[in-house]
Amino acid sequence: MCGIVGYIGYQKASPILINGLIRLEYRGYDSAGISTIESDGLSIMKDKGRVRNLYDLDGIDDLKGTIGIAHTRWATHGKPSKENSHPHQDNSKTFSVVHNGIIENYNELKKFLIENGYKFYSDTDTETIPNLIHYYYMKNKNTGIQRFLEAVRNACADLKGSYALEIICKDYPDNMIVTRKDSPLVIGKGNGENYISSDIPAILSFTRDFYLLNDFEIVLLSRDEAKFYDMDLNNIDKKTKTIEWDATSSEKNGFDDFMLKEIYEQPTAIRETIGSKFSENSKCEFEELNFDKDFLSNIKRIYIVACGTAMHAGLAGKNAIEKLCRIPTEVDIASEFRYREPLIDDKTLCIFISQSGETADTIAALKLSKSHGAKTLAISNVIGSSITREADYCLYTHAGPEIAVASTKAYTSQVILLVILAIYFAEILEINTEKVNSLKKEILTLPKKIEETLKSSSQIEDFAKKVYQEKDIFFLGRGVDENVAKEGSLKLKEISYIHSESYAAGELKHGPIALIEKDVTVIGIMTDEKLVEKTVSNLQEVITRGAKTLIITNQKIDESMFDMVINIPKIDCFVSPILSIIPLQLFSYYIAKEKGLDVDKPRNLAKSVTVE
Ligand code: M6R
Repeated sequence: MCGIVGYIGYQKASPILINGLIRLEYRGYDSAGISTIESDGLSIMKDKGRVRNLYDLDGIDDLKGTIGIAHTRWATHGKPSKENSHPHQDNSKTFSVVHNGIIENYNELKKFLIENGYKFYSDTDTETIPNLIHYYYMKNKNTGIQRFLEAVRNACADLKGSYALEIICKDYPDNMIVTRKDSPLVIGKGNGENYISSDIPAILSFTRDFYLLNDFEIVLLSRDEAKFYDMDLNNIDKKTKTIEWDATSSEKNGFDDFMLKEIYEQPTAIRETIGSKFSENSKCEFEELNFDKDFLSNIKRIYIVACGTAMHAGLAGKNAIEKLCRIPTEVDIASEFRYREPLIDDKTLCIFISQSGETADTIAALKLSKSHGAKTLAISNVIGSSITREADYCLYTHAGPEIAVASTKAYTSQVILLVILAIYFAEILEINTEKVNSLKKEILTLPKKIEETLKSSSQIEDFAKKVYQEKDIFFLGRGVDENVAKEGSLKLKEISYIHSESYAAGELKHGPIALIEKDVTVIGIMTDEKLVEKTVSNLQEVITRGAKTLIITNQKIDESMFDMVINIPKIDCFVSPILSIIPLQLFSYYIAKEKGLDVDKPRNLAKSVTVE
């Protein structure tokens, strides 16, 4: 999705802006642009295509301005083109604006502005914003910076939808205004300079101290200061937060791709997420939660709501919560949850999972649940992200920044956090004590076992080389392994573009088996002793029909039946998805590499889906 970078300080802005945009490339985009304040007014340089193309634009080297805004666009209104790229300006070129989000009432605003003499040169919703600011600016009788502030505030009050905005004005060469609603924006505080971005990693190499903006906050930036206002332009007091991620964690560190690096970071991500939440002999603690027996006994239903991979992590969470705590738990896709009239009241706990914390559907589902009186708990990897600020309670995974579009370490970190949460609930409710104690011991062995599992990499690479030209690949499993089959199949689709389906192994004979023919590849996952025999029988059915098979297992099976078997360490089924997904992540990765695809930035996809 679109990305924003901004700079106000004493250094030349353009290289800082372009480098910041390069760091945001992983989010997906189709065009890029910057605007700076120069001695003769506002510069504007933009085009469709890669960020690096900006370096080739005529005049880019002549820019001297020390204040500027920048944007990568992911087309929503209007095709990728120079005209539709950001920044956009008003007709008189007094304001330059970049915008993330969608202005839902832009048609109405455009009509109003056209009636008032404004012309439009793009198909975007964004172009209404600089013109609307200009409209209010011209009407304002104030002098000084108040005129700029009021014009922005009045324009924002007219906007419906979502926005993160950076605005510069040629009449105020020492200031910038930024604001947001339902779209992320942070300010990094430097010494005599301020950095702005939609994403922390883009500016992490400059500062660790961030101001996290809330909806409807307007910030007037100068080189030395950030003044915060509400929509009535009353001052707001705001403190910075220190972000612990280090800048090198947003770089490839010798790996060919971010995805591979992130797969290999899973032992650390899991170790960090487990943290010191419990030890073998101590009860599980979450400093951020103050749940007690009364609180939990009053919860009659739990919903886990998320999208894509985060939703698949939710399935592992449901398994643990229902089995360990005996609380009915449903997992919902956020975009469906909102419209299916879910049964929510004050005895409902809704858990929202989002790596980015900015997924529009997940945020909307969270707001709906709150409005129905539910208790809400957010799980995210990004400190201060929107869901963490919206929810009543919040827990963080400690995966470090995840750059590749395909989620890997965020998924396994979400699974472990949900299982630990289930343990925490069970200990408060004083049930399943024996099981919980043995599970805690198992969890502590996970980082080592992930390292062992990663050793299957070359075996997987060999298999990927054999099947990378396939048109269809199927994933089968039962119980928790079916959830992993879903995630494995999603991973393969998104980065290799191979059509893939996942099924509960027992469902095969109720239809999908009709698709199995000679040489089709079927991947079976078997980590549950109780279910292994049944899954083997289902796999026998596909082998009889000529399928090639890859098996991921930690069970004793007759390996001679299958084309390749990847043995992973034995572990409790509650957390086996954390190990069994790893060969499947590597499988997708090696297939995409063999096909020569851009693993980190698959087509049509964005890292953070901030539109519904
Ligand atoms: O940031 P979120 O966790 O809310 O993102 C949810 C999905 O968009 C995300 O998991 C997506 O499915 C991944 N690209 C899958 O690898």
